[in-house]
Amino acid sequence: MEKCIIVAVADNWAIGRKNALLWNLPGDMKYFRNTTLGSPVIMGFMTFKSLNSKPLPKRTNIVISIFPWPDAPEGIIVVKSLEEAYAAAEKALETTGGDKCFVIGGAYTYAEALQSADTLHITHVHDSPQDADAFFPKIDPQVFRVDSVAPTQTDPQSGITYNFTIYKRR
Ligand SMILES: NC(=O)c1ccc[n+]([C@@H]2O[C@H](COP(=O)([O-])OP(=O)(O)OC[C@H]3O[C@@H](n4cnc5c(N)ncnc54)[C@H](OP(=O)(O)O)[C@@H]3O)[C@@H](O)[C@H]2O)c1
Repeated sequence: MEKCIIVAVADNWAIGRKNALLWNLPGDMKYFRNTTLGSPVIMGFMTFKSLNSKPLPKRTNIVISIFPWPDAPEGIIVVKSLEEAYAAAEKALETTGGDKCFVIGGAYTYAEALQSADTLHITHVHDSPQDADAFFPKIDPQVFRVDSVAPTQTDPQSGITYNFTIYKRR
C-alpha cells in the first residue's frame, strides 16, 4: 500500500488556525476530492472535528484517537495509533480495491505520518499567514524529491496563487 499525505501548505508552512483551514480555495478542494476519492483517508481527531464530525463520502474514514469513543458517529473507523490506521486502511482496500491511502491531517498526524510516507500531494499556497497555529513540518529535500509540479492556479475570489506539487520519497 502506498502511504500518501495530502495537505495545503502556506509558504511559511502554516496549515491551520483555530482548528480550521486557512483558505477557502474551491480549486484545491476539487483536487483533494478527485485525488482521495475511493481511497481510505486517515485523520486525527481534531481534523475529524473540523469536518463537523461527518465522514467524507465515498472514502473509508479512519480517525485516530486514544480516548474510548463509545458513541462514535456512523461511517468511521476509530483506531488508537497511526500503525492501527494503516492496518485498517490495508483491510479496507481488500474490499474496495486500490493500493493507496491518504493521511489528510492535521498537524499532529502529519508530523508522525511524514516519517513513513511514500508520496506527498502538497498544494503550495503562496501566502504567509501570521496568525496560524498549526504547521506542516518543513520538507527535507534529502528525503523527498519533487516528482511533478502543475501549472500555477489563481483563485478567482481571493487572487491567491497555488501549485499542486507531488513529492516522492528518494
Ligand atoms: N491545510 C490542510 O491541508 C489541513 C488539513 C487537515 C487539517 N488541517 C488543520 O490542522 C489543524 C488540526 O491539527 P491538529 O494537530 O490539532 O490535529 P489532528 O492531527 O487532526 O488531531 C490530533 C489528535 O488526533 C489524535 N491522534 C493523532 N495521531 C495519533 C496517534 N498516533 N496516537 C494517538 N492519537 C493520535 C489525538 O487525539 P486524541 O487526543 O483524541 O487521542 C490528537 O490529539 C486544524 O487547524 C486543521 O484545519 C489543515
